Amino acid sequence: MNLGGKKILLGVSGGIAAYKSCELLRLLQKKGAEVRVCMTEAATQFVAPLTFASLSKCPVYLKNGAVEARPFQHIDFPRWADMYLVVPATANVIGKFVYGIADDPVSLCFMSCTGPRFIAPAMNVAMFNSPAVKRNLETLRSFENTFVMDSPAGELACGEVGKGRLMEPAEIVEYLEASDAILNETVTLSETKGPVKSCSAQSPAAQFLQETALQDLPAFAHSEATSKRSEPIPQSGEATPSVPRVLITAGRTEEAIDPVRYISNRSSGKTAVAIAATFLANGFDVSVVAGPMEAEFPGAVHVTKIRSACDMHKAVLEQMKNAEVLVHCAAVADYRPKVAATEKIKDSRSQLVLELEPNPNILRDSVAQKRPGQVIIGFALETDHFKEHAAEKLKKSGADALLLNAPVAANSGFGFDEVRYTLIRANSRNAQNAAEVEIPEMKMGSKIDLAQEIVDFSIDKLKNV
Ligand SMILES: Cc1cc2nc3c(=O)[nH]c(=O)nc-3n(C[C@H](O)[C@H](O)[C@H](O)COP(=O)(O)O)c2cc1C
Repeated sequence: MNLGGKKILLGVSGGIAAYKSCELLRLLQKKGAEVRVCMTEAATQFVAPLTFASLSKCPVYLKNGAVEARPFQHIDFPRWADMYLVVPATANVIGKFVYGIADDPVSLCFMSCTGPRFIAPAMNVAMFNSPAVKRNLETLRSFENTFVMDSPAGELACGEVGKGRLMEPAEIVEYLEASDAILNETVTLSETKGPVKSCSAQSPAAQFLQETALQDLPAFAHSEATSKRSEPIPQSGEATPSVPRVLITAGRTEEAIDPVRYISNRSSGKTAVAIAATFLANGFDVSVVAGPMEAEFPGAVHVTKIRSACDMHKAVLEQMKNAEVLVHCAAVADYRPKVAATEKIKDSRSQLVLELEPNPNILRDSVAQKRPGQVIIGFALETDHFKEHAAEKLKKSGADALLLNAPVAANSGFGFDEVRYTLIRANSRNAQNAAEVEIPEMKMGSKIDLAQEIVDFSIDKLKNV
């Protein structure tokens, strides 16, 4: 969305981050937008209304009954605006939005605004994780025309660390500029002033991210996911497809012991889903070769279902010629039973020894088949000596990068939305065998953060082919 000429109503509620709204206002003006401001009473304790009035060159709409200039600002302001931003949104105003309470300028404008409403929650991590706020944000996301931005993790004003920070003003501007894919592209903003418009036509990825369990981090995914591609991405291969294509391996594999038993692992597939949705949101055509998994892919993803590592090996080597990027995210069993019994193995009460043999190395075999310009990213899940093992794996495989992932922290890794990871890039004049490996520090992040890093890396690589 081009912000030039847009009329933006900025609602400021009483959080410590209210001062950042001043910077946001200035950035929006620099983009050519006209901004007016409404504030809760609590917000005026953090920033003087005079500051906003001076910056916006317009009286600020303050608490009911204390109208400075216009008698019907609660209707007037939202009707004037092409969109409404609430930055920061306190836990309190979020609750009011959800329950239809409209007893201050910010919640009143929310209720009477019929255009797009962008909400940037900001609060202490304990408040952010409270059941009430979680539920209210979830409900808010289901409202028409309402977009809840991410509240990233980091150091909070109160000194604690966790989710609940306000997105930086520059990121909010980027988010808005990238929000064409979020807004219904068939409805122009000027049409939003009449009856309530439907905003149901989000991009499939944005919609998916909004619905999925990964949704603790949704708006970040929207903003990042929809913002990155300003330049066309060069394609590798002969027949140039109209959009770049990515093939992702996903889920776990099952190695049959007999018709009813197998060897497997605890991969939920959530990381692959985050990666698929983020590629999708960045305009890629997304295919996956997926073993069994709990998480579900957005409808626009082409899924080939397999069970064993050998099935996955075959499917990947067949399909990789149709992709510019290959991401090996599946948790593939290293070994399989040498012989899978055709009948259920009976309980004989005596010791049973299973002989295992190695599965094919899908990453290495795909690198051996790599086309010039194709980008291949492997995954390494390590529980000890992370860096040494990952560096070794990257060198041996010849991949362009390796996502090192260590599911050892509490509440991270398998089945959780947060993970400890780092992306290790091959220093690749000749990545096939000369990987000089620099290993960035591992960090804790959401699977969406991790996915975005992989997408950014892939796009950079494709651009530099
Ligand atoms: C120093 C201080 C900082 C606060 N920061 C936040 C905050 O970042 N987010 C939040 O939801 N509430 C915060 N609060 C609590 C709100 O100010 C309080 O819930 C208030 O009633 C919100 O009013 P409003 O939603 O009408 O603006 C803070 C309170 C104080 C005293």
